Amino acid sequence: MAATSDDARPALQIDLGRFRAALARFASGVTVVGYTGEDGAPRGVTVNAFSSVSLEPSLVLVAIARRARSHELLQGKPFSVNVLKVEQEPLARHFAGEDQDVEIRWVKGVVAPRLAEPLAWLECEPWAEYEGGDHTLFVGRVVDFLFGDADALGFYQSRFVPVARPVPSQPPVPYDPFELPYDAP
Ligand SMILES: Cc1cc2nc3c(=O)[nH]c(=O)nc-3n(C[C@H](O)[C@H](O)[C@H](O)COP(=O)(O)O)c2cc1C
Repeated sequence: MAATSDDARPALQIDLGRFRAALARFASGVTVVGYTGEDGAPRGVTVNAFSSVSLEPSLVLVAIARRARSHELLQGKPFSVNVLKVEQEPLARHFAGEDQDVEIRWVKGVVAPRLAEPLAWLECEPWAEYEGGDHTLFVGRVVDFLFGDADALGFYQSRFVPVARPVPSQPPVPYDPFELPYDAP
């Protein structure tokens, strides 16, 4: 059975600093989640807790902290996920609450505002929301998307890092991560 908070087992005493450091060993991309604020203006929040979920239906998720303003504002709302290029680090900092001198260009989008010229964007209708401790998992159904080709902005060990696009001579992995047989090693 999956371990849940209902388990009778005593909770492990986790050192939060070390836990954070362990999680920071997972290198990720960086996204800005866009949505419409209370005043009707576009809002964004920097998010690296983004994941693909399902191909059919086409689902993705973002995990948003309960204490973030976006947490309340996103509930039941369509949103966009904007995957950032390496040169868009100032946007990532801005939407994480840092004071940045940066030009922000929003595009209206079909269901949600999105940033102009990210590496990729996905517009999502709300699909489900799951409680996840001090975060909520917002699952969206992708209704439209587009992608380009550029070096990506990465986040690793709590720092922004460049992620170089692969050289054309490098073949992609010979399998589809969405189509692995269940008995795959
Ligand atoms: C690289 C990076 C990744 C982040 N990822 C997340 C995330 O996945 N979920 C989240 O809730 N906050 C994340 N944050 C923090 C939010 O961007 C930050 O708290 C923001 O100011 C919240 O804005 P809001 O209060 O307007 O929603 C991240 C910050 C940075 C710099």
